[in-house]
Amino acid sequence: MQTVLVTGAGGYIGSVLVPKLLQQGFTVKALDRFFFGKDKLETHPQLQFIQEDARRLSEQQLAGVDYVIDLVAVSNDPSGEQFSEATWQINHQSRVMTANLAKKAGVKRYILPSSCSIYGFQDNEVDETSKTNPLTVYAKANEKAEQDILPLANETFVVTILRQATVFGYGPRMRFDLAINGMVYGAWKDNVLPLMRDGKQYRPMVHVQDTTDVMIHLLTADPHNINGEIFNVGGAEQNYQLGPLGEIIAKTVSNELNKPIKIEWYGDVDHRSYRVNFDKIATILKWQPRFSAEKGAKEILTHLVDGTLERSTQTITLNWYKDLEKWHKIIKQVELHGGILNI
Ligand SMILES: NC(=O)c1ccc[n+]([C@@H]2O[C@H](COP(=O)([O-])OP(=O)(O)OC[C@H]3O[C@@H](n4cnc5c(N)ncnc54)[C@H](O)[C@@H]3O)[C@@H](O)[C@H]2O)c1
Repeated sequence: MQTVLVTGAGGYIGSVLVPKLLQQGFTVKALDRFFFGKDKLETHPQLQFIQEDARRLSEQQLAGVDYVIDLVAVSNDPSGEQFSEATWQINHQSRVMTANLAKKAGVKRYILPSSCSIYGFQDNEVDETSKTNPLTVYAKANEKAEQDILPLANETFVVTILRQATVFGYGPRMRFDLAINGMVYGAWKDNVLPLMRDGKQYRPMVHVQDTTDVMIHLLTADPHNINGEIFNVGGAEQNYQLGPLGEIIAKTVSNELNKPIKIEWYGDVDHRSYRVNFDKIATILKWQPRFSAEKGAKEILTHLVDGTLERSTQTITLNWYKDLEKWHKIIKQVELHGGILNI
């Protein structure tokens, strides 16, 4: 039985990936601080929880591990700006450390789930060989992690980088701070779809089931096709401009719920815009996404309507991290003898 260490396993992508790995017969070590709760992963005989900070990963935790999928991160631009030092430590340094420890421990394959956001702003369509242009701490830390980790690839240590498009779709650790997910929520709740100015910016999208399929596929793919390689993860039809995408989502929600949806602009003009070429993953891995934006929107709606999903603070990454930091300070001030009122 093959063992996969997944870091950031309790996050949005991790909480979709881990059950799929278990279902396919892998043993999983789920390493996470579990900032969003341990309950996002169901217990399973082949699942081991490791509540640890990725910055403190030890060689021992990699013993017997065949594959690493290194999802851990402070996972978006606003959180990266607010907590920049931690973002460099976690998204760059800890992942470089994990990759090095993994190589030393005899791990066979290491996957770095990076982001298309490292393309930043581009006038023309970009592919994996194009010059990157990271505009934020989050994107810069991803780029640096890629640069330091890719050269570790050799005949016995297969390294692959996935530059994921912006992810959408339902997951147990839901994120309503992602474009499509947030649009669906606003349209459902207030009949108003929030759209980031000016709507002309290009942003590729990929469903959470699709990107996790790719990660699992890499565990058994022919190493000659993937070793030392970077793949953009997404599909040619999902290179949206946010304005037209907003209209698609508004129409989908309107049709499903039979009510008019208004589009409302917010924020300053978004300077990130990238149109991405996905030919490499389509030709080399023979892979195409299965989920469209409409299908993803309908799926989220189903969960909202049946009450299995809500927009709690936990679903907005930056707000949740800010709350945790705030409460950490307060609790440290008032806690005595291991408690507050009950000691
Ligand atoms: N969601 C997207 O749209 C998207 C797009 C491109 C790339 N990515 C990348 O995919 C990865 C996963 O993203 P996600 O959406 O699941 O994010 P997420 O925030 O939902 O998950 C990150 C997980 O990492 C954990 N974590 C954070 N710091 C930690 C630390 N120091 N030690 C241990 N655990 C820690 C958190 O508790 C959380 O469970 C990230 O690297 C992200 O940059 C995501």
